[in-house]
Amino acid sequence: MIIIIGNQKGGAGKSTLTLLLANFLTIAKKCKVTVIDMDYQQSIWQKYEKAKLLENTEPYEVIAAGLDQYPTLFEVFNSSPKEVTLIDLPGKLDDDGLIPVFQSADLVVCPFSYDEFTFESTVLFSVVLGKINPKAKVVFIPNRIKANVKYETQSDVDEQLAHFGFVTVPIPDRIDFQRVNTFGTPLAIYPVIIPVFERIYKDHIHKHTHE
Ligand SMILES: Nc1ncnc2c1ncn2[C@@H]1O[C@H](COP(=O)(O)OP(=O)(O)OP(=O)(O)O)[C@@H](O)[C@H]1O
Ligand SMILES: [Mg+2]
Repeated sequence: MIIIIGNQKGGAGKSTLTLLLANFLTIAKKCKVTVIDMDYQQSIWQKYEKAKLLENTEPYEVIAAGLDQYPTLFEVFNSSPKEVTLIDLPGKLDDDGLIPVFQSADLVVCPFSYDEFTFESTVLFSVVLGKINPKAKVVFIPNRIKANVKYETQSDVDEQLAHFGFVTVPIPDRIDFQRVNTFGTPLAIYPVIIPVFERIYKDHIHKHTHE
């Protein structure tokens, strides 16, 4: 199955959540995972190459690829539908090369936070996605949430986003998230990501990988 992690809002946590989900699916769920890094900064791929230099055994492959290569890559990954392909998208919607990526997604994971600017980007992203691939399931993950978010703001935003997909429980802002890499997730993070990822796995991933 193909899972894309996107939001045109920069810094929402796309690359971090891609890594966390790759680690979770590989370690906790024994899924076969491949990550395609399509972020222009290729932050995941750089971490992966660094880890390889340190001779860590990598639990999954990371491929850095441009959007123009996607149609071919899709044929490769689509031939093993029980494996999970996670795609970290660039934080911009202005490239036609994104259309086949959006079209191929079974699931879209969209990190966001509760501020006005992010909300607008998140809605725009969801509208564009819905036009290109109305069948894709969408899961919104509130990320980097500070304890002082107003309850009204949170429930208003959740209500609006619920028109496009499912909103998970929030992931807090914690310094440990800076230490996530391709060879592991800091243990301190597990208690906050388990409720989010178990729900996504149960609702959307398990049936694809066990058909
Ligand atoms: N829950 C969190 N708590 C604290 N820091 C976080 C959290 N999630 C992500 N970060 C940090 O926020 C920064 C931006 O995250 P990340 O690079 O994952 O975002 P992105 O959406 O991929 O950004 P870009 O649009 O630039 O590709 C990183 O330094 C990351 O370590
Ligand atoms: Mg990124």
